Amino acid sequence: MSPASPRRPLISGNWKMNFDHLEAIHAIRDLGLRIQPGDVQGVDVSIHPPFTDLRSAQTVLEAESIPVALGAQTCAAEDAGAFTGEISPVMLAKLHVTYVIVGHSERRTLFHESDETVAAKMKAVHRNGMTPICCVGESIDEREAGLTRDRLATQVGSAVRALPGDVVAGMVLAYEPIWAIGTGQAATPEDAQDACAWIRGVVADAVGEEVGAQVRIQYGGSVKAENTAELMACPDLDGLLVGGASLDASQFIEIVRASAHPGR
Ligand code: 13P
Repeated sequence: MSPASPRRPLISGNWKMNFDHLEAIHAIRDLGLRIQPGDVQGVDVSIHPPFTDLRSAQTVLEAESIPVALGAQTCAAEDAGAFTGEISPVMLAKLHVTYVIVGHSERRTLFHESDETVAAKMKAVHRNGMTPICCVGESIDEREAGLTRDRLATQVGSAVRALPGDVVAGMVLAYEPIWAIGTGQAATPEDAQDACAWIRGVVADAVGEEVGAQVRIQYGGSVKAENTAELMACPDLDGLLVGGASLDASQFIEIVRASAHPGR
């Protein structure tokens, strides 16, 4: 749709519920030893450890000047109060968290997060000066029933309407088809491109062509170093949200490197 766009790719590692804080320190040091300044010249990189790792992760990233942004996997919709077990976006911002994943399909499915909850969390992330990475994607049943575009339009429409139009340009959307997550069966570049172009069109319809052309759209679901270049060559795909392969620093750095040179 907009192949000449200057959108800077964002490669994010979603660690999910893996690594305690000591393991996180080890993994980040490992990443720091491998990453070269040239690796991040044209690409932004973030990692999203569990909450209990964030303080340690922040310390290591900052002390060792590792050029990787800190991210979280979700947050509360409220800033403070009687919400037992929740983590406030204010607390995340205090730890220099830059990106917060919102509405991951595991949160939507296992923890019953609705589009309304996701919208409230988008607002909370923005209110606290961080960037939401909002996940959208269809189940296998929805895909087989021909409902992919409807599902994406509903999820994306609800998320972008939560923020002022000019702010939407700076947010990140992540197309994560549920059937591709953790299955080893990534979407084909054709399917990923089709969905990302559709998502961009939904954003353009909701908040304008200019914003649609600026918003970054990641793909997630069984990303590996081997399929990175073909996915990143899709003109409407601006980055990757990596689960399993982000837990291994050597694999993750290969994905970052392959993202920088996909012939965009
Ligand atoms: P996998 O890369 O393990 O399929 O996970 C994708 C994902 O859910 C990232 O948020």
